[in-house]
Amino acid sequence: MKRMLSGIKPTGQLTLGNYIGALRNFVKYQDDYEMFVFIANLHCVTVYQDPKELRKNLKDAIALYLACGLDPEKSTIFLQSDVMEQAQLGFLLTCTTYMGELNRMTQFKDKLAKQEKNITAGLYVYPSLMAADILAYDADYVPVGDDQKQHVELARDLAERFNNRYSPTFTVPEPLVAKVGARIMSLTEPTKKMSKSDETNKGCIYLLDEIPVARKKIMGAVTDMLAKVQYDKVNQPGISNLLEIMSSLSGEPIEDICARFEGKGYGEFKKAVADVVCDTLQQIQDRYHEIINSGQIDKVLEDGANKARYIAHKKLMKVQKKIGIEIRK
Ligand code: AMP
Ligand code: TRP
Repeated sequence: MKRMLSGIKPTGQLTLGNYIGALRNFVKYQDDYEMFVFIANLHCVTVYQDPKELRKNLKDAIALYLACGLDPEKSTIFLQSDVMEQAQLGFLLTCTTYMGELNRMTQFKDKLAKQEKNITAGLYVYPSLMAADILAYDADYVPVGDDQKQHVELARDLAERFNNRYSPTFTVPEPLVAKVGARIMSLTEPTKKMSKSDETNKGCIYLLDEIPVARKKIMGAVTDMLAKVQYDKVNQPGISNLLEIMSSLSGEPIEDICARFEGKGYGEFKKAVADVVCDTLQQIQDRYHEIINSGQIDKVLEDGANKARYIAHKKLMKVQKKIGIEIRK
C-alpha cells in the first residue's frame, strides 16, 4: 500500500473550505493509502500565536478531524511536536538546504514583498522542516493546496540530493494538488477563496458555526441579477459557488441541481443549499461534541505519536549514520 501524508496548521478555526478541499478527501484516501495526518503545530509558531487561542484551536482541530471521519484505526493521527525525531531531522535537512533555495520560496518572497515586520528565522527555514515531515515517513504522495506545491518540490530536491550524496535513503514524494473544482469561494466575494482569515466573517462558514448562523450566511450569499440557477463561473460566480458546495456535499451532479431549480427563484435554491450545508454541519458537530470531552483525543494522539515515532526514529538513525554523526551500531 502506498503511503500518503499531510499536515494542517492549527491556525484559526477550520472552515467548510477545509472540509470540502482537504479533510473530506483525507477520509476517502484512508481506505486506499496508508495515511499519516498530523497537526503542524511547530509550523504554526513560525508566526506568533496567542497561547490560549492556539491550545483551543489545536484541540478543536483534532476533534474535528475525528468528527469528519478520520479513523484512528486506519490513519495515523498525531501532533508534530510529539515526534522530536521529526524536528531533529528538520535540522539535518536545513543543513542540506541552500539559502538560495529558501530565498526562492514564493510564500516567503510574498511576505518580504509585503514588507511584513518581524519575519522570523523559523518562517524562513520552515520548508526544510516540512521536508523532514514528509521524508521521515517515506511518503509517496502529499495532498496539498496549490500554495504548498513548491515546498513539496523542495522536499523532492532534498531527498534526491541526500540519496545521491550518500546512498538511497528517502522516498522521493509527489505532491497531489486538488482539482480546480476543490476551491470553495467566499460567500460575500465569490471571486476570492473562502478563508479562515475572512475579515467580515460573513463570507466564511466555520465547521463549528451555530446552525442558524450558518443558514443566515448562505441565505445572505452574494448572487446576481440573471435570476437563473446555472453554472457559469464568469458571469455568475456566486451561484456557481453555491452549486459547487451543494453538489460536493450531496453528491448530486451540478446539471441535475440546475434542472431541478429551472424557473425557480434564488431564495428557494439558497434554502436548499442551506439545508444540505446545515445537515452536514449538524452531523459533524454532533460527533464533535461527543469527542471533545471524552478523553478520546489524548488516546488517539498517544497512539498516533507512538506509531509515528517508531518510523521517524528508525529513519533518523539511518540518516545520522550515513552523515557520520552516529557511531553506534
Ligand atoms: P489552509 O486553511 O489554507 O491552511 O489549508 C488547509 C487545507 O485546506 C489545504 O489543503 C487547502 O487546499 C484546503 N482549503 C483551504 N481553504 C479552501 C477552500 N476555500 N476551498 C477548498 N480547499 C480549501
Ligand atoms: N506547510 C503546510 C501549510 O502551511 C502544512 C504542512 C506542514 C504540511 N508540514 C507538512 C503539509 C507536510 C503537507 C506535508 O499548510
